[in-house]
Amino acid sequence: MSNSAFHFLLLFLTLFLHLTIVFSWKKEEFRNCNQTPFCKQARSRKPGYCSLIATDISVVDGNVNAKLIPKTSDQDSNPLILTLSVYQDGILRLKIDEDPNLNPPKKRFEVPDVIVPEFETKKLWLQRVSTEVIGGDSEPSSVVYLGDGFEGVIRADPFEIFVREKGGKRILSLNSHGLFDFEQLRVKKEEDDWEENFRGHTDTRPYGPQSISFDVSFYESEFVYGIPEHATRLALKPTRGPGIDHSEPYRLFNLDVFEYLHESPFGLYGSVPFMLAHGKSRGTSGFFWLNAAEMQIDVLGAGWDADSGISLPSDQARIDTLWMSEAGVVDAFFFIGPGPKDVARQYTSVTGMPAMPQHFAVAYHQCRWNYRDEEDVELVDSKFDEFDIPYDVLWLDIEHTDGKRYFTWDKVLFPNPEEMQKKLSAKGRHMVTIVDPHIKRDDSYYIHREATQKGYYVKDAKGNDYDGWCWPGSSSYLDMLSPEVRDWWGEKFSLQNYVGSTPSLYIWNDMNEPSVFNGPEVTMPRDALHYGGVEHRELHNAYGYYFHMATSNGLVKRGNGQDRPFVLSRAIFPGTQRYGAVWTGDNTADWDQLRASVSMVLTLGLTGISFSGADVGGFFGNPEPELLVRWYQLGAYYPFFRAHAHHDTKRREPWLFGERNTEIMKDAIRMRYILLPYFYTLFREANTTGVPVMRPLWMEFPYDEATFSNDEAFMVGKSLLVQGIFTEKAKSVNVYMPGEQAWYDLRTGITYKGASNHKLGVSEESIPAFQRAGTIIPRKDRLRRSSTQMVNDPYTLVIALNSSKSAEGELYIDDGKSFEFEQGAYIHRRFVFSDGKLTSINIAPGASGKSQFLSNCIVERIILLGHSSGSKSALIEPANLKVDVELGPLWLRGSKGPLVPTIRRPNVRIADDWSVKIL
Ligand code: NOJ
Repeated sequence: MSNSAFHFLLLFLTLFLHLTIVFSWKKEEFRNCNQTPFCKQARSRKPGYCSLIATDISVVDGNVNAKLIPKTSDQDSNPLILTLSVYQDGILRLKIDEDPNLNPPKKRFEVPDVIVPEFETKKLWLQRVSTEVIGGDSEPSSVVYLGDGFEGVIRADPFEIFVREKGGKRILSLNSHGLFDFEQLRVKKEEDDWEENFRGHTDTRPYGPQSISFDVSFYESEFVYGIPEHATRLALKPTRGPGIDHSEPYRLFNLDVFEYLHESPFGLYGSVPFMLAHGKSRGTSGFFWLNAAEMQIDVLGAGWDADSGISLPSDQARIDTLWMSEAGVVDAFFFIGPGPKDVARQYTSVTGMPAMPQHFAVAYHQCRWNYRDEEDVELVDSKFDEFDIPYDVLWLDIEHTDGKRYFTWDKVLFPNPEEMQKKLSAKGRHMVTIVDPHIKRDDSYYIHREATQKGYYVKDAKGNDYDGWCWPGSSSYLDMLSPEVRDWWGEKFSLQNYVGSTPSLYIWNDMNEPSVFNGPEVTMPRDALHYGGVEHRELHNAYGYYFHMATSNGLVKRGNGQDRPFVLSRAIFPGTQRYGAVWTGDNTADWDQLRASVSMVLTLGLTGISFSGADVGGFFGNPEPELLVRWYQLGAYYPFFRAHAHHDTKRREPWLFGERNTEIMKDAIRMRYILLPYFYTLFREANTTGVPVMRPLWMEFPYDEATFSNDEAFMVGKSLLVQGIFTEKAKSVNVYMPGEQAWYDLRTGITYKGASNHKLGVSEESIPAFQRAGTIIPRKDRLRRSSTQMVNDPYTLVIALNSSKSAEGELYIDDGKSFEFEQGAYIHRRFVFSDGKLTSINIAPGASGKSQFLSNCIVERIILLGHSSGSKSALIEPANLKVDVELGPLWLRGSKGPLVPTIRRPNVRIADDWSVKIL
């Protein structure tokens, strides 16, 4: 071969390889909107299509009821029943369904077990509606009171629902563009042909098409966010409108997607149909549609409705969206905000607060597909010690089982699982094993035998146990919609039933979309049947949620209600936050995916799912050491911090890339451990308010437009700003620091002006992170093997003074394990620094009954950033003790910045009331 031919071949091969890597997402395996009848049809409708009007408006049982009927009587369809209810805190709920009195062929599916029972107690019992004629309407509209200064309106003709400030500006509306449509169930007649085919799979659609669609408008909003799970930007880009060619809508359909792209509206593993809108003048609002069927959502770009003839208030900027679902009912919630944290609270008051994790789960997790055998586990564990790198949890993937039969162990590779766990546990470490929902169809496997005998599997359209292909080969899937099946499943986690498990073992639920390798779109057929005759199409997006719930409840039971569960799930749905952590699935080791992880984790947090993270290092592919290092530096700030890798990748534990890289990765992991008191306090904040641990900048700075679409930086709580580095060999980065107050570099203590862009030099050693002036961050600086060994360690308080020389922060502590905190067994302090005095104030309401949480931990250092030195001493009260104020390093190891005023050994107890006055 000539030299040039050889080069050509080489070039060709390189290109080919590159293309196969870039395009390995198998697009054709999945439907697009045009291949999905309900989506194609809804997208083709023109504004003003809906001809329904609202009639017979009355107040019944504290709700407003109405009928929706076609305006012209020649259209033959049954009236729909509309119910509007109002809840505390400015929440409006809208339900629309078929009329049960008119004998529809079956009851449409309403998703149970998502709305928390407490929510019903917040219902405001409506007594009456007032009426008002809007514009030139022929019929009056009905107005209900929605809390302080807000109203919900049912406009009769044309039918429309909106929420507004009393008598004034609109906040949210539904059907303002007349795109509402509701296909009612039908009984099949001979001539009806409703079957659908996709890539050789037939969907029988026994009740005909049953989709629902409508438009929702958000007023005075500049951006919309939410509706995970997609690998896309934080601020959602329009999918239709002038200048937007061939974009798909955002798809919500839980799917196992092989090598997903980093910027795509394509639906991934989970679905949360909750969108937030935010703008400078009005603030934040939210819209949530509780529906578990496939959904597609268009964000409509300005001008999409030109010439539609629809007129909406022209003095209010607006973002329009189109929501389309294959089945179910309308059960929608409008949240009025007005702040981002208000919307977080309102949404989680419906779907539940994020669970309080065990303390160890907030630390670093080491995972790989697979740690081969017990020796491998022991070796990896010992290497962490050898290199002085803390870690808390070692994970075992599917290969640890006997032939992918979950709850079993490969007897050759893992002959002594209990002993293995006990060894880890002796160092305060934990283990997680994987338990997937596909059950191997093997008569000698006890789970399969019992499930078959009891009739616990999902059925195919013909009524037989559905049989699909997954890791174990031929598999069936438990019908997790049934509470009985969930209870039975939960029992399998007891220490007696799960042979080889110990109390320090926790669980990973993967493939729960559910993933079915030979199913349509790698999942279960839509006409498969669940408990109560529910079709899979109606429930699909919630399947994994019920599986996660059953596993999580099983672990609670295992621990007799004394031990908080830890279960990681890949599939998500509204309410997932109550059952455990999630991760963003099979990402790839490249820089774009590192960047996408920030938007993905932020979006999950905005929709209640605070405890999430991405595979550190990237699941597919081999990261260059630089990428791996950057990923550790970023991942150390994800709420869920776990390294994971595909079995075809090279080993990549943090000590495998040379001394220097090991040091830097170690440093990143240590940063997480040092900040654990701060993180754990934030998890408690999420648990009580719904506000996520990791937040977009605009959640803390809602009036600063420069933050609205920033998804390269984020806040951890309200005190820390982190800027990711997403490019190779970066020498500098632009960081936008919002707010009037200054920011202190976390590592050097150097200050930067607020409300400004800063171009900063970047080294490989760390990514930029800053403490906000006016905050106090609690730390634990001593290096240990695992978080459990830090329990009694002393605290450091880092006070970052603002321009008025004051600061505030909080610390939450409990036993890190049990549910006693629910009875008040915790310590919650507020630290306030003002007028030269730091005061520790108790903000825990006090324990009820016997439960009390005690801690003898002390504060060993108080660091004052922004304090002009000169003070030599401080007075501790009530001890009446004088201590020195000295200059000391900001960090015990490798401090980079100038020395800072420090009070060493004030030795006050963290649980007590005290003050420290700088003299
Ligand atoms: C797919 C999961 O996303 C991945 O994390 C896991 O390693 C494999 N399944 C094998 O269980």
